[in-house]
Amino acid sequence: MTRNIRVVEVGPRDGLQNEKEVVTTATKIELIGRLVRTGLRDIEVASFVSPKWVPQMADHAEVMAGLPAAQCSPGVNYPLLTPNMKAFEAAIACGAKEVAIFAAASEGFSQKNINCSIAESIQRFVPLADEARRLGIRVRGYVSCVIACPYDGPIQPAKVAEVASRLLDLGSYEVSLGDTIGAGTPSSILKMLEAVARIVPATQLAGHYHDTFGMAVANVYASYEFGLSTFDSSIAGLGGCPYAKGATGNVATEDLVYLFNGLDAQTGVDLDALVDCAAWISNVLGRAPNSRVTRAMLAK
Ligand code: HMG
Ligand code: MG
Repeated sequence: MTRNIRVVEVGPRDGLQNEKEVVTTATKIELIGRLVRTGLRDIEVASFVSPKWVPQMADHAEVMAGLPAAQCSPGVNYPLLTPNMKAFEAAIACGAKEVAIFAAASEGFSQKNINCSIAESIQRFVPLADEARRLGIRVRGYVSCVIACPYDGPIQPAKVAEVASRLLDLGSYEVSLGDTIGAGTPSSILKMLEAVARIVPATQLAGHYHDTFGMAVANVYASYEFGLSTFDSSIAGLGGCPYAKGATGNVATEDLVYLFNGLDAQTGVDLDALVDCAAWISNVLGRAPNSRVTRAMLAK
């Protein structure tokens, strides 16, 4: 039976948040429009975080204001990262319909990334989740460092399961499992998924795998076989986390779609259009696309 795969494009946020040079608002808006035209229907467009912490996301309000052209396409979701109430209120004022809350499975990363403990972060999300429920705003949850943390080392699967279930209890419709530093292999990813899926159904889990060690596509495939149908990815493999030194971008969206095109699975995304988009943004950023599929297709 053909399975439907939901691809959550995180390039405009996770992909661009770590860029050293300023990426203009116009480039971001053009990128989002091109992504919509590939058939992607979930595009994380910005984060409402402190500009002192992540300067590249400082133009979140302008990006949101520039979205109408892309919003003409029906059924496109534009989730926004919101770490606290201040972020949530600003995102709602900009017209957000979906927000993402993000906690970590490691204390070290939680402190470095959002300046509080895991327990404090969950407490911060309580009023945010209440308000989201009241306003009918969809909430997506993220757990970072599901395999290993750059500060605390290996992470126990039981800890990931605990944080994921907290995010679900808060009302998240889905929890995205972040291998933030790309340390996972199919074996460690499956151990983690087995622990989490005992508490959160696989249908409400997403894989968010960075490709630092070149394992992201293998990890996606293992997770798909396990039963996951939602995966986060970044056009041209852009990205990295400012608080995970050396970590590279997510699995490239082109590589993900190529994988699923070769399986009995449908993403609804046009691979040729993705490759064009990846070539365009890589050219704007002055580098080669970080996707084997795009490089191979451009070389034809
Ligand atoms: P803080 O300094 O602890 O915040 O930062 P605070 O509440 O003590 O406030 C200090 C100042 O920041 C105040 O301003 C607040 O108004 C302001 P002041 O009075 O000094 O002028 N402030 C804000 N400004 C703008 N937007 C806000 C906001 N909140 C407070 N939302 C905070 C806490 C969470 C804001 C900070 O740590 C932060 O912005 N961190 C950013 C973290 C981040 O974006 N990391 C990358 C994304 S996570 C990721 O990539 C992982 C993921 O991809 C999954 C994976 O791969 O694993 C999702
Ligand atoms: Mg990430």
